Amino acid sequence: MTPNPLLSRDGLVLPFYRHPAAGVNPPLDTPAYRAAALRAPRQPLVPLPQGLTEITGPLLGEERVQPADADLTTRYPGGEALGQRIILTGRVLDSGGRPVPDTLVEIWQANAAGRYQHQIDDHPAPLDPFFDGAGRCMTDSDGRYRFITIKPGAYPWGNHHNAWRPAHIHFSLLGRAFTQRLITQMYFPGDPLFGFDPIFNSVPDPKARERMICRFDLALTQPEWALGFEWDIVLRGPEATVFERQEKRFEYKDSP
Ligand SMILES: [Fe+2]
Repeated sequence: MTPNPLLSRDGLVLPFYRHPAAGVNPPLDTPAYRAAALRAPRQPLVPLPQGLTEITGPLLGEERVQPADADLTTRYPGGEALGQRIILTGRVLDSGGRPVPDTLVEIWQANAAGRYQHQIDDHPAPLDPFFDGAGRCMTDSDGRYRFITIKPGAYPWGNHHNAWRPAHIHFSLLGRAFTQRLITQMYFPGDPLFGFDPIFNSVPDPKARERMICRFDLALTQPEWALGFEWDIVLRGPEATVFERQEKRFEYKDSP
């Protein structure tokens, strides 16, 4: 008899997380993105049943993440980060459209000249002593995050001749559960490098690619100070709570 994937060994009915539609996420093996060749699995993936470890999430407490962690421009005494100052905000939602509060949002990015403060980045562009490119915050009760940072520059990355990454900010979100963890990149509207970037274009669905691009918002822009951009993030949501049982939940058995 096939074990019910929704029941834990303790007999608890567990929520599960639906796989996204085909074409939304990039395939594991993306030949145009050369570094992926050594990372992509050669064997079919083996779906593991989700247990309590996967459907529960981290409890970070209230003191580890400070409000100052969300301002990447004023972290160091003696000066501010160079570049176009921006306000970057949005809401974290689950696939049911519900806000995800109290989730950790972490970002990392290149500076305005397109260089990371990292030992392996040898791009001959200046480092900024007042910018390390890392920030984090917790979402509020409405699922909203908010950062003050600078718009990152494009940078060369050696994937192929004359390869430049569009300006982007890396995001990591933990969500409510470890199976919801999302790591992605956010782009800026109208970037002329979109058509040439294998990473951006590794997402097959054009509409899904558009969802990686933030939106300029004049109402969010603060006069004489910073441009405003908005970008909402949708995590996988639970199809049901622990206490609900619906027939459609058994689709999981046939999911890829
Ligand atoms: Fe990057």
